[in-house]
Amino acid sequence: MASDADRSPPPKIAKIPQHVAVIMDGNGRWAQSKGKPRTAGHREGAQTVRTVTEACGDLGIDYLTLYAFSSENWKRPKSEITALMTLLERFLKSRTSEMQTNNIRLQAIGRLSDLPKRCQKALHESIQATKDNDGLTLILALNYGGREEILDGIRSVIRHVQEGLLDVAMLDPEVFGKHLYTRYYPDPDLLIRTSGEMRISNFLLWQISYAEIVITDKLWPEFTREDFFAAIEEYARRQRRFGGVNEETS
Ligand code: IPE
Ligand code: IPE
Ligand code: MG
Repeated sequence: MASDADRSPPPKIAKIPQHVAVIMDGNGRWAQSKGKPRTAGHREGAQTVRTVTEACGDLGIDYLTLYAFSSENWKRPKSEITALMTLLERFLKSRTSEMQTNNIRLQAIGRLSDLPKRCQKALHESIQATKDNDGLTLILALNYGGREEILDGIRSVIRHVQEGLLDVAMLDPEVFGKHLYTRYYPDPDLLIRTSGEMRISNFLLWQISYAEIVITDKLWPEFTREDFFAAIEEYARRQRRFGGVNEETS
């Protein structure tokens, strides 16, 4: 286990994103390449979560959203799903005190009520324990689907209209954003996907409309602190225009 002293100092980067979102992909392929079961890849991937979380804290990034389990991942073999849920529960139980030490606030997005009860309980306890921390906000996307989130948002809007709390004429992207799971967080500035797939896989469909995208061929379990810094450096070189013509508009 690396201590603070073992970590390389973060590079000086001119422009740091406020919110980074990551599609952590390639655990299965990593395991396969080593002749191991897929679950070994997920275990190794959990180590990378720690590495990237620390790197975010060191750079002063405010929000990190990690895609940990999608609405579609229920299609996987039952044994793999069970292993992932057990890993999640273990991660939450073993890392909460470390999150406290590192001033990390844990949050979660997705249809959490469909997760196993044990995971829900561990999640609730970690969120409660870390709620007053004001360093990095670490958001786990669990049983998360972008389309499902948008539909839940539409249901919420309809409810508010029916109860007379919202006038339909007032609905715009900002107002709608307040009905999404992510209502408390800014949109991601940077989306990273490991393992080279050029797709979004139902992740944060609404929120990434103007995110910069960095896709690396590295598999998630072998993604390093330096790889993460390289992705942030790539982000810093991008010129964001938000549909305008000039330099940065935000
Ligand atoms: C990402 O790795 C982890 C989850 C989706 C939970 P994968 O399990 O998708 O690994 P590959 O893509 O099959 O290699
Ligand atoms: C996306 O990876 C979901 C997570 C990282 C949790 P997948 O491996 O499930 O995505 P596809 O199936 O390759 O699109
Ligand atoms: Mg995958």
